[in-house]
Formats: sequence, C-alpha cells, structure tokens
Amino acid sequence: MCASRALPALRATQDRTETAAKLTVASNGDAPVYCYIASSPFKNDYLERVLNARVYEAAVETPLDNAPLLSRRLGRRVLLKREDLQPVFSFKIRGAYNMIALTDMSQYEGGVVAASAGNHAQGVALSAQLLGLRATIVMPCTTPSIKVNAVHQRGAEAVLHGDTFDDAQAHALALAAERGALFVPPFDHPDIIAGQGTIALEILRKHSGPIEAIFVPVGGGGLIAGIAVVVKRLRPEIRIIGVEPFDADAMYQSLQASQRVRLAQVGVFADGVAVKEVGTETFRLCRDLVDEVIRVENDEICAAIKDMFEDTRSILEPAGALAIAGLKRYAQRNMDTSTSSSNSNSNSSSSSSSSSSSSSSSSSSSSSSSSSSSSSSSSSSSSGTLIAIASGANTNFDRLRHVSERAEIGEHREAVLAVRIPERPGAFRAMMNALGPGANITEFNYRYASPEVAHVFVGLSVSDRRGAAAAISKLAAQGFVATDLTDNEMAKLHLRHCVGGMGGPHFAPAHEIVYRFEFPERPGALARFLNGLRGWNITLFHYRNHGSDVGRVLVGLQVPPLERSTFLEFVERLGYPYVDETQNIAYRMFLCPLPKNES
Ligand SMILES: Cc1ncc(COP(=O)(O)O)c(C=O)c1O
Repeated sequence: MCASRALPALRATQDRTETAAKLTVASNGDAPVYCYIASSPFKNDYLERVLNARVYEAAVETPLDNAPLLSRRLGRRVLLKREDLQPVFSFKIRGAYNMIALTDMSQYEGGVVAASAGNHAQGVALSAQLLGLRATIVMPCTTPSIKVNAVHQRGAEAVLHGDTFDDAQAHALALAAERGALFVPPFDHPDIIAGQGTIALEILRKHSGPIEAIFVPVGGGGLIAGIAVVVKRLRPEIRIIGVEPFDADAMYQSLQASQRVRLAQVGVFADGVAVKEVGTETFRLCRDLVDEVIRVENDEICAAIKDMFEDTRSILEPAGALAIAGLKRYAQRNMDTSTSSSNSNSNSSSSSSSSSSSSSSSSSSSSSSSSSSSSSSSSSSSSGTLIAIASGANTNFDRLRHVSERAEIGEHREAVLAVRIPERPGAFRAMMNALGPGANITEFNYRYASPEVAHVFVGLSVSDRRGAAAAISKLAAQGFVATDLTDNEMAKLHLRHCVGGMGGPHFAPAHEIVYRFEFPERPGALARFLNGLRGWNITLFHYRNHGSDVGRVLVGLQVPPLERSTFLEFVERLGYPYVDETQNIAYRMFLCPLPKNES
C-alpha cells in the first residue's frame, strides 16, 4: 500500500480555495459524501494544506512524552503524543477549528452545525465560541446529560434528535440547509484532515531521530489520513499503522476489500472510533499511505489505559488508548518474530529503523490474523522508536470500573479457569499445591453442587498469554480437570458474579434456556422486555452496569420446547442484540446441574 511511487494525493499543488470550490456534498442516503466534481482533475497538495492550517488559535502544541515503564517492558523506546492535553481533551479541535477558520463564514448566517455526541461536538463548539459564531450540535436522544451539558458550557445549542447517530446526522444536514449554516463533518473533509495533520508536523519537529512507526487510532480515518499525508511526504520510511478495535474495524475491512465496507454493527466500548463506514477521502488517502491496520481486543484497550496511567498518571478514554494497545501488539508480535527467527537464523535481525521503505512490496499479512498489512514483514525484527497518539481523555468516570476490572486480562496477566475438584475438605489446598508455590489466586467462587464434585471459578495471576495453558497442565498432572475461560465473555461479565446464586442437587428448573442480551441503557428498555414475556418464568437475571452504553444482562427462562419458536420471534422483535448461551460450557458447569452420570 505504501508505495515508493509518486503518491497521487501528493502529486501536484493547487490553490486551496480553488480546490475547495470543487468540493461538493452528495448523500448516500444517510451520510454525507464529500467528493470532487468529476470534471476537475484531482490535484491538491495536502502538505501545503497542513502547513497553512489554522489550529493554534484554538489548539496547543502538545508534548511528545517518554513512556519509561512501557519502554522498559517492550524493550524499545516508546513516545506518547499527548493529545489528551488539548483544551477539549482530544485532538478533534484541530480539524474542526481549521475548517471553520478557513471558511468564509459571511456566507453562512446560521453559523455552524455538526452531529456528534463526542469529541467532535466539543471541538466544533469551542471553535465556534472562539470565532464568535452560532453553533448547533445535533445529538441522539440517548446522549447522556453530561455530554449535552458539556456542549452547553461551550455556548452551543444542543438539539436532541433520533435514536441513533445516523438519525442525528441526517437531521443535522437538514438543519444546516434550512438555517444556511456550515455543516462541519467529523472526518471526511480536506480541511479536517489537514488540521489533524498538524500533529505529524509537531512529532517530526520534536523527534528528528529515527522513528520506526507511528500508531494512530482510526474511526472515520481523518486523524490517520492527516498524519500519513505529512509523514509519507517528509519521512516516508516511517511506518504509519492504524489501530482499530476488532468490533469496530471499518478501515481494516475496507483496506482488505479495496473498497469502503459498511459495517452492520459496531462495538461502542471505544465510542470515539465507533464508526460504521470510513470516509471516501480518508479511505482514498489511507489506501495509498497507510502501511498496516492492527486490530485489538477491548480488554487490551483497558490494559493500555492502565499503561498510560502507570507512566503518566493520566487517564485516557478507550479510543484515546487504542493506539497504545496497537503499539503493544506490534512490539509483542515483532518480539515473537525476532525470537523465532533468531532461533532459526541467528543473522537475520535488521537495523533499528528501516532507513528506506521497501513498502512497494505487497507481502501478505498471513503472519498475523489481526492485521491488514501491505508490508508487515519488512521490519519485523527491528527495535526502533515507536510513537502512539494518545488521542483523547473524555471518559465517564463510571467506565473506569470496567477498565480496571479488565485491564489485567487484557494484559494477559490474569487467567480465568473453571476447575473441577472433589467435594471434600482439603481439596482446595490440594488444588493450590498443584498450581505450585508461586500461584497467585485473584478470584475464587464455587457452589456446592453434589456430594462428589464442585466446580470452582478461579482467577489466577499469570505472566503472559501462555500462563493459562501452563496452569491447566499443572492441574492436570495432579488429576484436576480445568477449563480455560479467559476468553469466555459470558464467564467474565456475568458468571463470576453468579456462581453460588443457583444450583445444587435439588434445583433443576425444567426447560431452562439462558440468553445474554445487550439492553439499550434507556428508561423503558427493561419494561419492554418484561412486558413481552407471555408468562415465561424467569429463573435467572443478572445485570451489571459497566458504565458502557449498553446494559449487559444474562437471563434464564423456562420456555417449553413447543414455545421456543414463539420465544425467538419475541427476541427478534425486541431488537436487542442477543446470544443464546444455553449450551455455553460455563453455564452448564455453574448454573445448570449436570445429570448425575456427567458430574
Ligand atoms: C479520542 C479519539 N480518538 C480517535 C478518533 C478517530 O479519529 P478519526 O475519526 O479521524 O479516525 C476519534 C474521533 O472522534 C476520537 O474522538
């Protein structure tokens, strides 16, 4: 992807006002699409746009900080670009201010309009306030009041409309047309991209030494496109690596397919990057300029928030820590690759930073299931400086409960196991002995289930991913059967809190089924569920508020086999995302007594 040939986006220069005049807004039904009028040959120089960007009337030049603890752990220098220190606690002020400041606002008597419930809203509101303009921010009705108030505090009007972001965006476009206001998109516009690109200029000025790679969180792609257009022009040997959550990987999917892919669903844990479809212009630039996209688990994001805290005593929002999680995955992958290649070929290590890009190669990314890469193997055993963009810090305090609970698992420092032990005094001690003297138990839950055996839910400190397997073999050597539940979402979210709540030899609800739901966090969601139940008896109900945008609920119900299809029709109509967990091994072990011959 990142070729040494002339890059189309960087080819020629042209007066920016002329180029801007050739921009038009079309619509694909629910999202604005910025495109260049077909008759105009595509010419513009993004570097020039970035150099001419107006950001410092609103944004500050943020530090490029050392991360000494993370550097030591990864065995290479790690630097963090501290965009969490911007006045609105994220980089989004750069693009928003640049676009508004460069527009002749005398043509827009209605001021500016944007659709956002997040960092873009803050960026647009502050920009308008500084420029003395009217600002209207459209947000979905479900937006928490804390975010609505934050917009009010910047002097903007908040309009609540619709249930989803797409509804809010459609309304914002209509409002902008009706009021004669400038619609400020979150990422897909050259001035937004150029504003974000100023981050790259600051990095290159502050760190003139070798840099192996810059890691950038990706939502719609404005931030990474802006950084890539600068870096690939001035220092093309530096790898530009995008990072996305597995459950919001629109750029990864699009690069794989060589065309924009619209996701049916996106995970909202890292809400700043929860984007169903990347931009047309951002995709065009990323296709040419981005070396690789790495995907990470949400638990790894939690671990990255902890890393940032340990190094700087600052807290990032999930999207803000995404790049650190990707950097860690990359460093770990390359450590593993260089270990295995130095075992097989002791002479194969490369220099600390590739001085010239061999990126015209299009080697596949088959070595890593989590990356979309055009040249991922080119510097696999390098140990150069890595830089991550710490992009934002706007998080709900409540969310930190979930973050701290999951950080150790994301770091692969905690394993969760189900262990079958004999139901007799001394069995727990025997199990501990089997694990060895260094074992550190972090959690332990069990319920008497039969006179013969008990299933124990155990959390265990481990040093890396392989720890769970090592513990299981130690237990097996002493005759204990253990199952690894570390990646079992239902077990981590609910089961640990349910163990002991039900079970026992005499409790066996007939026809029990267990479903896991994501309830929308809004009044009436539970009532809607309960009202539709048609007399099916609830045998289990577990809900835990994780401070996220959805309520995670585990429900057990007695539904006779003949009524199962009616039940399925009900959950489909309900429309809440669900998983049938009735066959989940964790449920079978802890909540549903096994028939005697299986125990
Ligand atoms: C904190 C944070 N990080 C990363 C991003 C992704 O930026 P982009 O949509 O330009 O890819 C956003 C977008 O709003 C964000 O708020």
